[in-house]
This record gives sequence, structure tokens and C-alpha cells, in this order.
Amino acid sequence: MKPKVYIARPISKEVEEYIGEHCDYRKWEGKGKIPQEVLMEELKDVEGVLVQNASVTNELLEQAPKLKVISNSAVGYDSFDLKAMKQHGVLGTHTPFVLDETVADLAFSLVLATARRVPELNNIVKQGKWGKQKDSRQFFGTDVHHATMGIVGMGRIGEKIVRRARLGFEMEVLYNSRTSKPELEEKYGIVYSELDSLLEKSDFVVLIVPLTPETHHLMGEEQFKTMKDSAILINCARGAVVDEKALIEALEKGEIYGAGLDVFEQEPVSPDNPLLQMDQVAVLPHIGSATEKTRAAMLMKAAENLVAGVTTGVPENVVKELQGLLEDEAI
Ligand code: NAP
Ligand code: GLV
Repeated sequence: MKPKVYIARPISKEVEEYIGEHCDYRKWEGKGKIPQEVLMEELKDVEGVLVQNASVTNELLEQAPKLKVISNSAVGYDSFDLKAMKQHGVLGTHTPFVLDETVADLAFSLVLATARRVPELNNIVKQGKWGKQKDSRQFFGTDVHHATMGIVGMGRIGEKIVRRARLGFEMEVLYNSRTSKPELEEKYGIVYSELDSLLEKSDFVVLIVPLTPETHHLMGEEQFKTMKDSAILINCARGAVVDEKALIEALEKGEIYGAGLDVFEQEPVSPDNPLLQMDQVAVLPHIGSATEKTRAAMLMKAAENLVAGVTTGVPENVVKELQGLLEDEAI
């Protein structure tokens, strides 16, 4: 008998066929994101589930006694209650590597868009306001090439951003991470920096850390005061790495110049959020990895993790905090 799994988000025919070869499955066919109560009901008799950032709580796990693996089609897994998963012996997997270049492209598009004021000036042209300015200096932006970029989080994606910054734009790069990366310092000529010093010196501060209790509101009032008043903040990590209220105040007071945001504390962002009214803020709907090719690769990787999780107990991409469960899991 094949193991039973649940597919909690839309997937392609190819991925569905692959899962179907190895598992009996049901899937979410409703509109939009699966409601949490439906997910909880569906998990009562299955051994595995494929999700995209669904909230995995102790309550959900208590009602899913057969569950062995939760496969997240994303690299970030702040939606997992890791302590509860450990207690229930449920593996969690994610999709590292396949999205790195795509997310780095997006981070750089926000750097360029904010520096050269692309969304703001695009609107001016489309609204027929080109030529109505007293002075063409009103269109001036700031240079990206040869500027200083401070990257917070030097992991898989951080490294891809470095390559673009150093080799493409000849920028100076400072970085902050939990541990220093001598091999990357050697390879790219980047410099480890304490966070305060990185904030003081950088023209662009790019956040690409996981959201954890340590990184929650890593950027707050004090950190914005430390940044240059000409600096631009780019957040491609998770919304809650930034204290959004403090960011709004810093922008209003001119403590920093601008921001490029792919992520928000509340998603979808509220239409009333003051950040949406600011010309010097470029906003996107959490699309770091959203290209056809990369999302297809992420879903296939998530499906492979799901299938391996329920058939062998040893999926490839178990998140590091849960790797200790693998010894007990192998069947
Ligand atoms: P990764 O390879 O695990 O890299 C994360 C880096 O952050 C590591 O270098 C880690 O340091 C560092 N770090 C962790 N906690 C830190 C702290 N408290 N202070 C400073 N640095 C810290 O992860 P990744 O694949 O690059 O992805 C990073 C995050 O980006 C994901 O977790 C996700 O939330 C976000 N993301 C967003 C999108 C999007 O669509 N916007 C797409 C993909 C990913 P060590 O190396 O010392 O462990
Ligand atoms: C997207 O945000 C991801 O973590 O993959």
C-alpha cells in the first residue's frame, strides 16, 4: 500500500504525477491559501504534507498522529514550530540552493530600482508629467556601482548577492553573519563587520537572514539612527526582521533615504500601510523566488523531499534544527 499524503497548495501536473507514482494523495483545490482549519482536518490520517509556508503549530501536530514529514516549498521555515516538531518527531524539509540566483537577482533589482528611483520616475512618465519639472535634476538618483553594500546574512543567497555586487558593480562589500566566512573574504575581497559598523558605513544595507527569535526586529529605531541618512535598506528576508513602525519613522524623519521591500510584517501588506505612500520606497509582493523556472524547481524539490520522507524516512533537505531526528526516522 502506498503512503497517504496531502498536497496543500497548487502544483503542476508533472509534480502531481511524480507524487502519485509513490503515494496516495488528496489535494487542496480551493481558491487561495488553504484555511488552517481545513489543513488540520486533512492531516488527521496522512504521513506527509507538502505546504508553502503554512503555519505548523503544536495544535496542528497534535491532531496529525501519523505525520512523518512536512515539506515546505520555500527555503525559509520560520513558519515551523521547531520545538513542537522535535517533540512530535516530525521532520521538516525546505528547498535550499535551487532559488539562490533568482532571489539574488531580485535583491539587486530592488537596489537598482530604489537607487535610480525606477518605480517613482516610471509613474511620472506614465502620468504624462515628464517635462513638467522645473529642473531635470529632480530626476537624479544615486550610483550603485562603486558604492558600499552591507549584507546582513552571508549564507547561500548572500554569497550570490556578493558575486553580483563585487564582480558586476565593483562595490565594496561589508557583511555580518553569525560566523565569519574567511573563504568568501579570500575569494571576493569582502570584509566581516559588526552590525553597527556595517550600518554606519553602508550605502545599501541588504537583509537576507532567516527570521528567528534572534533576528526578529534586528533593524529597529537605534539601527536606523546608525545608518547614513542617504542609505537605502533592502529587505528580501522576512518582514519581521525589520520593526516596520521604526522604519516608517526613520523614513519620515529622513534618518535613512529609502527602502526596497519584498517582504512585510503583515502579508499581503495592508493598503493603509504608510510605506505604500512613500515615493522613495519600492515595494513588491514577496516574489524573491517567483520565476517560472525556479518555482517549478522548488516544487519538484519539495515533492522529492515529501516522497523520500514517507518512503525512506531520510529526505535530502531536512532543516538543520531537525536533523537529529533522522537517526530515529530511518525505516
Ligand atoms: P542560509 O544559507 O541559511 O543563510 C542565512 C545566513 O544568515 C547564514 O549565513 C547565517 O549565519 C546568517 N544568520 C542567521 N542568524 C543570524 C543572526 N542572528 N545574525 C546575523 N546573521 C545570521 O539561508 P538562505 O538560503 O541564504 O536564505 C536566507 C533567508 O532569506 C531565508 O531564511 C528566507 O527567510 C529569506 N528568503 C526570502 C525570499 C523572498 O522571496 N524574499 C526568498 C528566499 C529566501 P551562519 O552562516 O553563521 O549560520
Ligand atoms: C521565500 O520566501 C522562501 O523562503 O523561499
